[in-house]
Amino acid sequence: MTSTIEVVVKIVGNSKRVVVFTGAGISAESGIPTFRDPLNGIWARHDPRKLETASAFREDAALVWGWYLWRRAQVAQSLPNAAHLAIAQLAKTGRVVTVVTQNIDDLHERAGSVDVIHLHGSLEQPKCFACHRAPTSLYLETKIVCEGVRVEPPRCPRCNGKLRPGVVWFGETLPASAWKRAVLAAKNCDVLLSIGTSGEVFPAAEIPIIALKAGASVVHVNPIGVSLSSSHELYLAGRAAECVPNLVSLIEIADKTAH
Ligand code: APR
Repeated sequence: MTSTIEVVVKIVGNSKRVVVFTGAGISAESGIPTFRDPLNGIWARHDPRKLETASAFREDAALVWGWYLWRRAQVAQSLPNAAHLAIAQLAKTGRVVTVVTQNIDDLHERAGSVDVIHLHGSLEQPKCFACHRAPTSLYLETKIVCEGVRVEPPRCPRCNGKLRPGVVWFGETLPASAWKRAVLAAKNCDVLLSIGTSGEVFPAAEIPIIALKAGASVVHVNPIGVSLSSSHELYLAGRAAECVPNLVSLIEIADKTAH
């Protein structure tokens, strides 16, 4: 009986184009909380409508800006984990690997992945709430602000509007170019690895479905069971920092024996 991991190694081994689609779960082992974890998820402690919407920013810009500074400080204190590093390693096996992430941290980049597609924006690039321009040079405090501290947002150097985090809030559209690139990659890949996502937030959660419809295999990596809807979907049970490095090293061994 062939194990799931052996099937996945074979599928990725025979692939030329891989999309790696990630969610908060891949950063969990770097110490960054996920959103929907029932115990310590961000939304277990906060109401997203009070922090991740434009109306929340209008109501209390200092609360929202302070919260994102706290999240940015959390990321600054974290390191990419073995899963982030293994994904960067996979890109060195001669395959075209496109990383599409829902995460706003920079752990994929710090692990060595390039051209990462951020569907929900990034903590690194604030923009003006009024004129939407992103200031070219801005010193962003990475001092440790505690969760819940209100910090007045800096002002836009061009129009003096308040700066806001360069992330996609609930009710906002995804960056058009990021979405286009992600859909193109999903439509043209041989396999999509979906790592650490609940698949609850659309349209981002559409990406694995697009890949599946285009004939790719989709492999889910998650410690919690994922419901599979097609024979081309597989599920690797486990934590990303355990499963992904194991998978990539088995692929590298398979590559060596194949040549
Ligand atoms: N390894 C792999 N997966 C993990 C790990 C881990 N160590 N720990 C948790 N997970 C899984 C959880 O089982 C869950 O399925 O990661 C998933 C995290 O789900 P969410 O918290 O919903 O995060 P995500 O899927 O990224 O949410 C999507 O929702 O709130 C918005 O903008 C936010 O981008 C985010 C979007």
